[in-house]
Amino acid sequence: MSEKVILALDQGTTSSRAILFDRRGENRGLAQKDFRQLFPQPGWVEHDPREIWESQIGVARELVAKAAAEGLEVAGLGITNQRETTLVWERASGAPIYNAIVWQDRRTAGDCDALRAAGHVDTIRQKTGLVVDAYFAATKLKWILDHVPDARARAERGELCFGTVDTWLVWNLTGGARFITDASNASRTMLFNIHTLDWDEDLLALFEIPRAMLAEVRESSEVYGTTAANIFPSPVPIAGIAGDQHAALFGQLCLSPGMVKNTYGTGCFLMMNTGAQPVLSENKLLTTIAWTLGGEVSYALEGSVFIGGAAIQWLRDGLGIIDRAEEVNALAASVADSGGVVFVPALTGLAAPHWDAYARGTILGITRGTTAGHIARATLEGIALQVCDIVKAMEADAGARCAELRVDGGASASDLLMQIQCDLLGFKTKRPKTLETTALGAAYLAGLALGLWSGVAEIQTQWSVERDFVPQMLREQADTISRTWQKAVARSRDWVG
Ligand code: G3P
Repeated sequence: MSEKVILALDQGTTSSRAILFDRRGENRGLAQKDFRQLFPQPGWVEHDPREIWESQIGVARELVAKAAAEGLEVAGLGITNQRETTLVWERASGAPIYNAIVWQDRRTAGDCDALRAAGHVDTIRQKTGLVVDAYFAATKLKWILDHVPDARARAERGELCFGTVDTWLVWNLTGGARFITDASNASRTMLFNIHTLDWDEDLLALFEIPRAMLAEVRESSEVYGTTAANIFPSPVPIAGIAGDQHAALFGQLCLSPGMVKNTYGTGCFLMMNTGAQPVLSENKLLTTIAWTLGGEVSYALEGSVFIGGAAIQWLRDGLGIIDRAEEVNALAASVADSGGVVFVPALTGLAAPHWDAYARGTILGITRGTTAGHIARATLEGIALQVCDIVKAMEADAGARCAELRVDGGASASDLLMQIQCDLLGFKTKRPKTLETTALGAAYLAGLALGLWSGVAEIQTQWSVERDFVPQMLREQADTISRTWQKAVARSRDWVG
C-alpha cells in the first residue's frame, strides 16, 4: 500500500503555496508561486481572481505530480487562505465581475465612519465579534454591488456568487459543484452571526446584501466533495477549510483555552484560543470563530496587525535598501540598535488596538548619522512593537499575564526578529520545528475528516520546539523603547483623509 499524504493549499496575500504533509506532520514537498498585487489608487489593493486560481492550481498540480512520482497517495486536500478578501463571480459562467478586493484595501473607510456615526458599532460587535473597519468583507462587497453596473439586481436574481478566497477555490476545484465556506472564514465577513452560526438577516439588510449570493457555511473539517474530473489525474476529496490564522492556531496545536500563537506573514496575527465561549474584547481585539469541528465551535480572540513581513517587502520593493527579504537581518545586525529611529509601519493604516484607517507609515528620529542599518533595525522593532501592543491588550482582556508565545510564519525564521520580539515582550518565545503551521493546520483539519489521524490526541504529540528564545534585554531598556514607540504611533495617526 502506498503512503498517504495530505495536500494543503495555502492561498496567501502575496503567494499561493501547496505543501504535502505525511502522517507524522512532516513536510514532503512544497511549491510556491507569487502573483501580482494591484494598487489602482492610493489605499486600494486588488488581486486578479484568475491569477489567484491559476497560481494556486499550478502549484497544487506540481505537487500532485511529485507525489505520484514518489509513490505517495494524495488522500485529500485542505484549504487555508488569506481572509476577508472579497470576490464576486457569475454563477453561470464562473467569471468574476470585479477584481478581488483585498483585506488591506481601505476604500471603504468612509463607509465605516458612516456606520460608526449611525450607531451600528455595538450591534455589529455583539453579532459578529468584529470592530467596524474596512478590513472585513461586508463593506467591500457592498462597494462592488454599488459600483459594478447591474450587480445588485443580478445578485438579487441569484445570478452572482460572493465568496472569500476559500469559496472561490472550492468552486473552481469542483467545477462549480460546491458553493461553500467554513465558519472561520464566514466570521470575517461582518455578515455572519458568530452565536447563531448563520448569516445574519439584520446585517444583510444593513449592508444591502442579497442572501441568494451567499455560500453554505460548513464545518472546518468534513468531506465536502471531490475535485472535478479535469483538475487532477484522479479526483481528490476536499476535506478541510479554515482562514489562514485559524489554521495556524490549529497547526500550532493551540487547542486549549489560553494558548496563544503569533504568525509573522504579510501582517502579524496573534490569536488566543478561548474555547467554547466567545469572549468579547474590552480592548479592541476581535472575537472570531477559531474553527468548527465535530459539531463543536471553538472561539478565539485575535489581534490583527496589517503590516508585518510586508514592511520588509517595502524595504526591498519600495525603498530598495535590500535585494532579498532575508538580507534585512544582516543589515539590521550591522548596528547595535536603531540609533533612535522609530518606524511605525502603518502603510495601510493601523489595525488592533488602534483601528485607524487614516494612519500612515511614519519614520521618526532620523539624523545625519542614520544609515540603512538603522532603518532595517527600526523595521524589525516596529513589527515586534506592534505585536507587543496586541499582547498587552490581550492580557488586559484575559486578566492574566501571557507566559509564552508560539511563533510561526515566514518572518519568524529570523533569529534577530524573534530575539527582539522576546526582549520587548519580556517572556519566552517558542519557535516550533515546522514554521509552515498554517498549511499544517489545514492538512490536520482535512486529515482528521478523512481518518488519517484518529483524533486530535494523535496529532498533539507532533508539536516540538526548534528554539526557545529567552529575554536578554533589561526591562528598563524595553520600557524606554516602548514609551518612544507610543509617541511615534500617536504621530502616525489620523494622517490622511
Ligand atoms: O486577515 C488577513 C490574513 O488572513 C492574511 O494573512 O498570511 O496573507 O498575511 P497573510
